[in-house]
Amino acid sequence: MAASAEFHDRMLSLGLARVSEAAALASARLVGHGDEKAADQAAVNAMREQLNMLDIAGVVVIGEGERDEAPMLYIGEEVGTGKGPGVDIALDPLEGTTLTAKDMPNALTVIAMGPRGSMLHAPDVYMDKLAIGPGFASDVVTLEMSPADRVYALASAKGCAASDITVCILERPRHEEMIAEVRSTGASIRLITDGDVAGVMHCAETSTGIDMYMGAGGAPEGVLAAAALKCMGGQMYGRLLFRNDDERGRAGKAGIADLDRIYTRDEMVTEDVIFAATGVTGGSILPSVRREPGWMTTETLIMRSKTGSVRRINYRTPVESPQNG
Ligand code: FBP
Repeated sequence: MAASAEFHDRMLSLGLARVSEAAALASARLVGHGDEKAADQAAVNAMREQLNMLDIAGVVVIGEGERDEAPMLYIGEEVGTGKGPGVDIALDPLEGTTLTAKDMPNALTVIAMGPRGSMLHAPDVYMDKLAIGPGFASDVVTLEMSPADRVYALASAKGCAASDITVCILERPRHEEMIAEVRSTGASIRLITDGDVAGVMHCAETSTGIDMYMGAGGAPEGVLAAAALKCMGGQMYGRLLFRNDDERGRAGKAGIADLDRIYTRDEMVTEDVIFAATGVTGGSILPSVRREPGWMTTETLIMRSKTGSVRRINYRTPVESPQNG
């Protein structure tokens, strides 16, 4: 039976990179055009078209929304040719729609794939997130700690002062108290306007200078970030946040019974996972899609948790232009 074929990275990594590249190329044409929806739609169309060429029996578990609100790549949509292994797909065809519309850093296309049943079916609600990079004892920081205590605990584990710690936080009114508390420790804060998948990934890349990510953002993005960190190394925790009964109902529909549960990285993504991301706008992890007469070039990060492999693939493709078209 096709769906029981084994999840096998060698066949799938390059395929996943192509899916991510296609979404980035499509949305790159709309960078800086002030139209979030058009940029997102272009990425969705391209990602779906490429995904349906892959020999997988895929089910979207993190996607563009519930079936009644998203016509494409909705949660539960079956993707792929149906001829390969049964897989869970988590995706965000354009993570950072506003970043793209305004040509601001760190907009990415993101997709992760794992064996069927390996990813948390996070509803479209907020998630309280906490992440650090690799190399620390488990639970050195926890969601139960106050923001200041997390800074002090991480500084002590790193053997540095609190003022040497940099925390990344989404700039939102809901984070004002957290920001003030973190600043009271002497730590620095890198505020980002959007894009917390990249925010979490920053913790695992020493070159970014970020030690810790904290704050509330989208739960679907939380699962994608957990997939990335499972490949890169690092710890992450997430707790779903519900603002009303409708949101609690979404959790019920997704099969989540314990609404207060804190998920670790490996509880959000329980098995081997392949993760691909392509830079749309340039950032600290990936460069932007480069456009020059006749050509477009992308850079894609493609990683696998089981092997710890990290590849960067540059892809140059001819495009029609007045010079060559
Ligand atoms: P979009 O790409 O859908 O615009 O999401 C960007 C993002 O910043 C995510 O990275 C983050 O998890 C979420 O939005 C935060 O939500 P909100 O803007 O409601 O605070």
